[in-house]
Amino acid sequence: MKPIDLTLLPASTRLTADGRLEIGDVDLLTAADRFGTPLFVYDEKDLVDQFTLAYKIFGDGVAYATKAFLTKTVARLAYSCGMSLDVSSEGEYQCCRRAGVPAERLVLHGNNKLPAEVQVAVSEGVQWIVADNFDDLAAISRYAKDLGLRPNVLVRVNPGVEVHTHRYVATGNRDAKFGFPTWTQDAERAVDLAQRDPAINFMGVHMHVGSFVLSLETFLSALNAILPFIQRVEPEIFVIGGGLGIRYLNSDTCPSFEEWGEAVLDWCRNRGLTSRVLVEPGRAMVARAAVTLYTVGAVMQKGQRTFVSVDGGMSDNPRPILYGSGYEVFKVSEPLADRPRRVDLVGRHCESGDTLIRDGYLQESVAAGDVVCTPVTGAYGYSMASNYNMLPRPPIVFVKDGQVRLVVRRESVDDLLRNDLE
Ligand code: LLP
Repeated sequence: MKPIDLTLLPASTRLTADGRLEIGDVDLLTAADRFGTPLFVYDEKDLVDQFTLAYKIFGDGVAYATKAFLTKTVARLAYSCGMSLDVSSEGEYQCCRRAGVPAERLVLHGNNKLPAEVQVAVSEGVQWIVADNFDDLAAISRYAKDLGLRPNVLVRVNPGVEVHTHRYVATGNRDAKFGFPTWTQDAERAVDLAQRDPAINFMGVHMHVGSFVLSLETFLSALNAILPFIQRVEPEIFVIGGGLGIRYLNSDTCPSFEEWGEAVLDWCRNRGLTSRVLVEPGRAMVARAAVTLYTVGAVMQKGQRTFVSVDGGMSDNPRPILYGSGYEVFKVSEPLADRPRRVDLVGRHCESGDTLIRDGYLQESVAAGDVVCTPVTGAYGYSMASNYNMLPRPPIVFVKDGQVRLVVRRESVDDLLRNDLE
């Protein structure tokens, strides 16, 4: 197998003249040594570039979907690049608020918003609340009346199209729990209710067809399906969600954010839509910005299979076991070397599903003590991490211009036991 394709790594990755791999001018082996492994290393420049690009293409109101990766630092960064932030829980909301993001730059999502979440969103005046179903719409209206305030509301609709992605993350098809179906009368009824309700300010329509979508065709077919509805409603705002995929493997292909953004905007322009068109990307903003560093603890030859075991696993990256997602891996000390050795990269959890990469490839020399790197772990890794087997979640460092900032420290055993009362 060929060497790792370095374009999978963050924007400021470079090889020094003596063959060391750096991100943000910080040597990865030195960072691993200093902060321990597993370690998430985020390239701050890559994050800023992506947020800035999204704002440049879509302008005010474009939102970063914080479920992909959220710490106070990244919230502040996205906000400072002009973005709004999409949140779907009190935790995400408060993290952004404590990072200094004003409520009017937050978008509240969720198919089961809790009363406290709606109340705080209404009373603090968020950018808009996305109503997902009739009970949700009624609750938003009720709290608005109680508080004597008039929140901005978008109505989330489901176009009911075939979405080419893993079925767990398809949300714009007829089997999905989200949004008002446009293929029944529900979407029309919801918009009508919202428009006539004096307690709320109906601002527009929202859809999100799914996540990790690699083809423009899926987005365009969803837009085609929803066009008659949008033409009837003529919403002021039309949010077409997030969902653009990203390359995880050397062999993957995917439209760039720019290509995707221009394609959906062109499509809307060419159909004469007058709405302001916005998106709310998560993965495409942050996935490539990070790598995870692990230390190999054992290399185990069992018959035909070689297992390379590392000091993390499904607790810091549950995507392989959840969605069968693929990743690349390479030895940090030999970034340009071929990877002829066929291996399963496994974690340290007590089940065989704890396989980060099945049938991956590594450098021939891989041995216990090596630091290995899995690229493209910036989205839905840390945010979906768990404490399975009571493992502490890894720390996160941001690197830039030769500086390393610890933005989330490694959990300790005390952290793990903090809520255990007896
Ligand atoms: N907007 C809404 C309403 C969403 O539900 C999502 C993602 C996004 C935007 C952002 O989608 P993105 O651009 O990141 O694809 N855990 C899964 C992904 C779940 C996505 C959930 N919703 C994974 O690791 O692949």
